[in-house]
Amino acid sequence: MARADLDKQPTDVRRMFDTVARRYDLTNDLMTAGIQRSWRRSMVAAVAPRRGDLVLDLAAGTGSSSEPFAAHGATAVPCDFSVGMLRQGRKVRPGLPFVAGDGTRLPFLDDTFDAVTISYGLRNFVDPLAGLREMRRVTRPGGRLVVCEFSRPVNGALRTVYLDGVMRALPRIASVTASAPDAYVYLAESIRAWPDQPELAAMVAEAGWQRPEWRNLTGGIVALHRATA
Ligand SMILES: C[S@@+](CC[C@H](N)C(=O)[O-])C[C@H]1O[C@@H](n2cnc3c(N)ncnc32)[C@H](O)[C@@H]1O
Repeated sequence: MARADLDKQPTDVRRMFDTVARRYDLTNDLMTAGIQRSWRRSMVAAVAPRRGDLVLDLAAGTGSSSEPFAAHGATAVPCDFSVGMLRQGRKVRPGLPFVAGDGTRLPFLDDTFDAVTISYGLRNFVDPLAGLREMRRVTRPGGRLVVCEFSRPVNGALRTVYLDGVMRALPRIASVTASAPDAYVYLAESIRAWPDQPELAAMVAEAGWQRPEWRNLTGGIVALHRATA
């Protein structure tokens, strides 16, 4: 059984991602019907990486979320605690400097990065507030945070179709491509239980970040939360 529960025990989360690693990129693309590429473009625009910037992409998995920053001339450092995801990342994206590390105890000095990003990762942390604090610690003063995460659709009808329809169908869709379809039961559960946009912004502020704000993508299915160190 590869699936984590909503208590998000790090060992279970790590093992679950180890199991889905080999087919993670493919399943991701198929399940989001490619929309995720436009979410990635919005993410890059929000981070606005400059040539020479050092960008930490936390919970980077196979590096699919880190690659666009490198493509814009930044040095992107993908960090993750799943050895399976890191191994797959090194295989398919050998040019990226993958680092093994837990987001609640990062292996970096204070004030190291110009920007810190996390895509679809924070929801899996046993203690997301501790993760946001740790991201703050390793970001230089004036540096930026961008969190890309599934969120709460703002329109009532879209919310019902998405949360009651799509989320229930997700494990069946995943069974076509995923190496461990059960993990996608956890994905649906964790999305439904995740804080909405204002709640996450409040958590970002509580972690010590300045001026948290967010932008909804695809009606709030995904939200980008931005803040400054
Ligand atoms: C859904 S994947 C996202 C991968 C990638 N960022 C993307 O956008 O496709 C979530 C990743 O978060 C990682 N993760 C979860 N909790 C973590 C933690 N405490 N520290 C480091 N990585 C973590 C998992 O190992 C997994 O690779």
